[in-house]
Amino acid sequence: MMTIMSSQFQPVLDRIASEIAGTPARGRPADYIPALASRDPRSFGMAVAEPDGTVYGVGDWREPFSTQSITKVFTLALDLAREGAELWEHVGREPSGNPFNSLIQLEYENGIPRNPFINAGALVVTDRLHSRTGDAAGELLRFLQAESDNPRLSFDAEVAASEARHGDRNAALAHFMASYGNIGNPVPELLDQYFRQCSITASCADLALATTFLARHGIRADGTRLLSRSQAKQVNAVMLTCGTYDAAGDFAYRVGLPGKSGVGGGIIAVVPGRCTLCVWSPGLDERGNSVAGVAALDRFTTLTGLSVF
Ligand code: DON
Repeated sequence: MMTIMSSQFQPVLDRIASEIAGTPARGRPADYIPALASRDPRSFGMAVAEPDGTVYGVGDWREPFSTQSITKVFTLALDLAREGAELWEHVGREPSGNPFNSLIQLEYENGIPRNPFINAGALVVTDRLHSRTGDAAGELLRFLQAESDNPRLSFDAEVAASEARHGDRNAALAHFMASYGNIGNPVPELLDQYFRQCSITASCADLALATTFLARHGIRADGTRLLSRSQAKQVNAVMLTCGTYDAAGDFAYRVGLPGKSGVGGGIIAVVPGRCTLCVWSPGLDERGNSVAGVAALDRFTTLTGLSVF
């Protein structure tokens, strides 16, 4: 087994960035809202954060981008910290094998979504966090600001408004689950929270740092505990099996780490006990994952041997 010293992270990142720069195929940015469609598919950034808060980066690693579904990891952690295992009576933890916004399984499974990372499951988690805090999106933003030590992180009002204008499918998911009694708040209020959640803008450096509580087995940046060691393991496990939707098998095969993608082109990943990663490049494959992002994480675990396997 090869071992890698922290001082080797920077040369590894530099090497990956130059390899990616020589790759022609980069996928296509999400085009359902203008703010995502206008991003340059050639943008590329990558950051590695260590549990003590040291960050390494390359390329556009300080450039803010739309976090989108990456936020589902943090709302899951924030809700699990509050309500514990009861959450799992309202959302499952099995891969769906379907696209992230699919409606199909919900009726067969009586309004209980397969997992917290497809949109239906994330809506349930945000609904429950909102019931407990009265401000799920605000709670999430404050958590990300604190963990990344970046008080400038904010909602993007234009992205949130565009999400709402194109939100029919999420509205359908939420209303359908409400008909089974699995949503507690009025659907318009939940959707407002969910769209603001998705609209948060952050950089690779911010997100790698904000994820370090999962590398520290549940301990926040200030040393307090958010999750038990067992809950941190559970979140990492659900990321591994469900974090990249119907591509989770291929992601585990190529990268071998818990990971979570968003349609803004970002992906976070965790090497438990060792470091976290965030990579961003807006061009997506047909399953909504960043093409260069997955390739870069694949190269990182191959070059360093840092994987959960
Ligand atoms: O719910 C939506 O459609 C988006 N705001 C978030 C989707 C997303 O990032 C899914 N991920 N790959």
